[in-house]
Amino acid sequence: MDKLVIEGGVSLKGAVSVSGAKNAVLPLLAACLLTNERCRIKNVPNLRDVNTMVKILRSLGACLEFSNGEVMVEAAKLRNLAADYKLVSTMRASFCVLGPLLGRFRKAKVSLPGGCIIGVRPVDLHLKGLRALGAKIDIQGGYVVTEARELRGAGIYLGGVFGSSVLATDNVMMAAVLAKGKTVIESAACEPEVVDLANFLNKMGAKIRGQGTPSIEIEGVRHLHGTDYQIIPDRIEAGTLLLACAITKGDCFIKGAFKEHLSAVLDKLWESGVRIEDADGGLRVARPRKNLKPVNITTLPYPGFPTDMQAQVMALMSVTPGISVITEKIYPDRFMHVAELNRMGARIMREGPHAIVQGVRGLSGAPVMASDLRASAALVLAGLAAKGRTEVSRIYHLDRGYENLELKLQKLGARIWREKE
Ligand code: UD1
Repeated sequence: MDKLVIEGGVSLKGAVSVSGAKNAVLPLLAACLLTNERCRIKNVPNLRDVNTMVKILRSLGACLEFSNGEVMVEAAKLRNLAADYKLVSTMRASFCVLGPLLGRFRKAKVSLPGGCIIGVRPVDLHLKGLRALGAKIDIQGGYVVTEARELRGAGIYLGGVFGSSVLATDNVMMAAVLAKGKTVIESAACEPEVVDLANFLNKMGAKIRGQGTPSIEIEGVRHLHGTDYQIIPDRIEAGTLLLACAITKGDCFIKGAFKEHLSAVLDKLWESGVRIEDADGGLRVARPRKNLKPVNITTLPYPGFPTDMQAQVMALMSVTPGISVITEKIYPDRFMHVAELNRMGARIMREGPHAIVQGVRGLSGAPVMASDLRASAALVLAGLAAKGRTEVSRIYHLDRGYENLELKLQKLGARIWREKE
């Protein structure tokens, strides 16, 4: 197992590029199952989660080649319509092979993904949407077993207790593109990654309108064809790099950070006093003129503040004098990073879905343990700002979703490197 070692206290400086979006590429790869022709996906980050999806598609019988940021997928002949527990349980996003398998073959068996460290994470909305299209669904031995004589377009309300669901919207959209007639998904997720998937499906011949709004209309077509597609940059990686610069009072240009995808994050950073300007093809963070101010943040579905940035912004608030309250409305238990940040000298108190952060003057380096993907990123940010040496262990979590994060931070001058534990 690897760990990251950080000698904190360096102000980051320079330019760095954002990789392709993990949360866009995973469903897009699954969508390649909808055609027997070849698809070529570009700007694909080399991540553990992407490699897991490659393994899942290969286990179904698809042919894939992944090199130099490009994936070729050909799913002409599948030998198997069942996605195994061993693979699905390692990555929740693999559940989105269900929609395309059902859409094209009218049959699928996919392991239930189970919960994870950030919460229970049910799939009721996925199943509700697929049932509305006419699928018969049984749960057998931990698997979702589904079949449909035909899929018919339907009006589907996909709102849940915590709002819209990204992967449920993806799954239902992928099944509906090959259904008979028109489907309207209400309370659809509006995330840029959902828009990217819809744009990809349209390039394959689907007829989808309204992506990026809560109401998506899908006119079913008889078949889809192969295509080339370029993935959007990763807004969460972009946001994490912006925060790395802000927490070290640096001066950096983040190429591929799109203002339109980060409005809620930028709004809070501006309110706090971080200086960020829209520059050519990216965002520039400048050294702050005065101390940052604490801000209150609530995570919400897009375009609200992303839950995937909650841990990282908490690292920034933990060194911002004053009190900030961070409320988690998507995954009320997503606070594993609190105890680790406190080990570095932060003063954070958890109260149900709220974290009350009392900003301190500085953090001190410590050995800490990553618990999930975004929590790991928060610990890296804290390590960059802390005095002394921080060791972040269990960074396989980080490798699930950040491509060469330590190399990108090194490029900005950070003293960070990878070691074997
Ligand atoms: C996606 C992202 C993940 C991000 C999350 C929320 C991918 C691969 N992952 O995950 O990084 O943290 O969106 O922005 O894109 N829910 C239900 N029933 C369901 C499905 C979800 O109640 O059937 C709830 C969840 O428990 C959660 C909320 O809805 O409280 C949002 O979850 P959802 O958008 O589905 O998350 P994912 O798509 O799994």
